Amino acid sequence: METGFTVAQLRAAATDAVRAPSLHNTQPWRFRLHDGGIEVLVDPNRRLPATDPNGWGVRIACGAALFNLRLALAVAGTPPTVRLRPYPDQPDVVARLVPDVPRRPTPAEQALHAAIPRRFSNRAPFWPDPVPANARWRLAEAARAEQCWLELLVGVSAVNAFAEIAHSAHRVLERSPEYRAERQEWVRRTPAPDGVPAASGGPRGEPQDLLPSRGFGGLDRAPGRDFEPEPLVAVLGSPGGTAVDQVVAGQALQRVLLTATEAGLGVSMLSQPIEVPSAREQLRLALGRYGTPQMVMRIGYGQPGWPTPRREVDKVLELPVTQPG
Ligand SMILES: Cc1cc2nc3c(=O)[nH]c(=O)nc-3n(C[C@H](O)[C@H](O)[C@H](O)COP(=O)(O)O)c2cc1C
Repeated sequence: METGFTVAQLRAAATDAVRAPSLHNTQPWRFRLHDGGIEVLVDPNRRLPATDPNGWGVRIACGAALFNLRLALAVAGTPPTVRLRPYPDQPDVVARLVPDVPRRPTPAEQALHAAIPRRFSNRAPFWPDPVPANARWRLAEAARAEQCWLELLVGVSAVNAFAEIAHSAHRVLERSPEYRAERQEWVRRTPAPDGVPAASGGPRGEPQDLLPSRGFGGLDRAPGRDFEPEPLVAVLGSPGGTAVDQVVAGQALQRVLLTATEAGLGVSMLSQPIEVPSAREQLRLALGRYGTPQMVMRIGYGQPGWPTPRREVDKVLELPVTQPG
């Protein structure tokens, strides 16, 4: 059997990779075909200086894109071996993927891969139906399979305690004019290849809301169409808090998101309590978990929605230079 990736496989995999989520849909990634492998790089020009001063969000997004890339190559029959941060002198290179031994994809890989184009952030209210135990178990397993943990907040008091932390983080962020301006800059009211389409941004927050929303679109809410009273809130955490841990957490995030999509669940992310260091620490202490919270998700059964736009893959994929003749 032939070993190695073909350029067509790598291009197709990069097309899947760009479907990953990112802060404000900034898509802060690049891909480079190099020496028979493919590399994932951060795009420092697409980091949000006010919202993401240290690059946490960029690395989570690149980790999520890396997970899609891994999955696509596995489904194409050549799973990759991955090295994170392969070059100490090039910190922008998040990962390098080279071909491993070819094998048939597993049904689980095929199912997750098929969920990539269907996944989207669903910021609308969910139905009140609870998420069944077996789906909860699968979500936690998805995080564990990527060396992370997923803590599902059980009971009204746990969710209320989280909501308080989230609202106080939200208030801290909202006090910054730069943060607010950055968010406005990335809301799109006409078709665009990046940014958050106003129609996907979710309804305008209202005082009775248990959880704060980022406030992208500000769609009017139908009377009485409130958020579910007992949301399922899940906190994803990684063993450590280094840059590499953030890339690991990004992969786990995407695995959880695709697992949810595959199970027919909707997810929205809320990262305000991750972005404010004191809130993140409070959250960590409240959970009593070893490691670092990296993302918070609201999970439930939602109405159908639609994926958001991405830049064309050729805008982010660097091909190897071919010698003439
Ligand atoms: C690191 C990170 C943080 C995010 N934080 C939030 C958030 O606080 N609120 C929110 O509504 N969406 C959040 N998102 C979701 C992005 O806005 C979303 O992924 C992006 O707009 C692309 O849309 P899609 O998820 O529908 O593909 C976050 C995503 C990432 C990767």
